[in-house]
Amino acid sequence: MEKKKILERFLFPSVKVDQNDLSKAISGKIVLITGASYGIGECVASGLASAGGTLILVARTEDKLLALKKELEQRGAVVHTFSADLRKEEELGALFEYLQRYSLEKVDILISNAGKSIHRLVYDSLDRFHDFKRTMALNYEAPVQMMLKLIPALEEKKGQIINISAINVLLAPASGWAAYQASKTAFDQWFRCVSPELKARGIACSSLYFPLVRTRMMAPTAAYNDMPAMQPGQAAQIIFRAIINRSRIYSPWWVFPAQVCSVLFRRPWEYLMAANLKKKSDAKGH
Ligand SMILES: NC(=O)c1ccc[n+]([C@@H]2O[C@H](COP(=O)([O-])OP(=O)(O)OC[C@H]3O[C@@H](n4cnc5c(N)ncnc54)[C@H](OP(=O)(O)O)[C@@H]3O)[C@@H](O)[C@H]2O)c1
Repeated sequence: MEKKKILERFLFPSVKVDQNDLSKAISGKIVLITGASYGIGECVASGLASAGGTLILVARTEDKLLALKKELEQRGAVVHTFSADLRKEEELGALFEYLQRYSLEKVDILISNAGKSIHRLVYDSLDRFHDFKRTMALNYEAPVQMMLKLIPALEEKKGQIINISAINVLLAPASGWAAYQASKTAFDQWFRCVSPELKARGIACSSLYFPLVRTRMMAPTAAYNDMPAMQPGQAAQIIFRAIINRSRIYSPWWVFPAQVCSVLFRRPWEYLMAANLKKKSDAKGH
């Protein structure tokens, strides 16, 4: 077996949930998944199709959502799709109107998964303030707005909110990731601040911190091609386990030691990053 595959098995041990447990947890419930057209969200929708709930799939790419709906309905699922750019308040508003019109506003499980990542150094971003606005709008403002609207129904249903986050927010910041990391961290903090209040009212709150997952999101970063990564199907199984157990948190087993190192070795890490960037910019003659 090639070395990368062995490393992936070690870093991301596989999780497989029992389909009966998943059906028990989902049956008769309304599950809203944002970012359901590709990647992790698409895998989650596909895995939930035979579990017996009603799925509401949200993303921008309408034809992709409609094709997925057709496929899942052929497997017996009840599926609604709504195409919206969640960065736009008016489109979020239209989504809530749609949910009310079809009596779908009483959501039991919200899987807040839509996200955008950008990897760009700040010196390449001096005329790109829009990068920071767009990541904030999708990774922070959209889930906040969505939750403010859905919290009353989630309380009534004693439901669950699952935030799809990234291990980056738990570890030392890395250069080039300012837009993504700041926006994911902002929402993680918001969600962790409100979680005790929500739990007190019976809403389960799950923060899932994923490592690199092999989806189109990582495709633009060439350096990631050779790095070990989780498969989207594995990420979906972890989400299903969180639904079954209403678990509070997931992160890979090695994240805790990495967090400790992030604190202990903060200065050398910052020094090494700066030295490496200086070497690269000297080589370019800047
Ligand atoms: N891949 C990784 O390495 C990784 C690691 C840790 C955490 N995560 C997190 O996992 C989540 C899913 O990412 P993924 O890897 O599955 O990426 P992906 O394949 O690019 O999927 C992202 C999803 O978000 C939707 N989306 C993007 N912009 C949107 C917008 N403005 N409005 C509505 N929907 C939008 C996309 O659909 P449309 O383009 O059709 O709108 C797509 O369905 C993200 O929150 C990401 O931060 C990913």
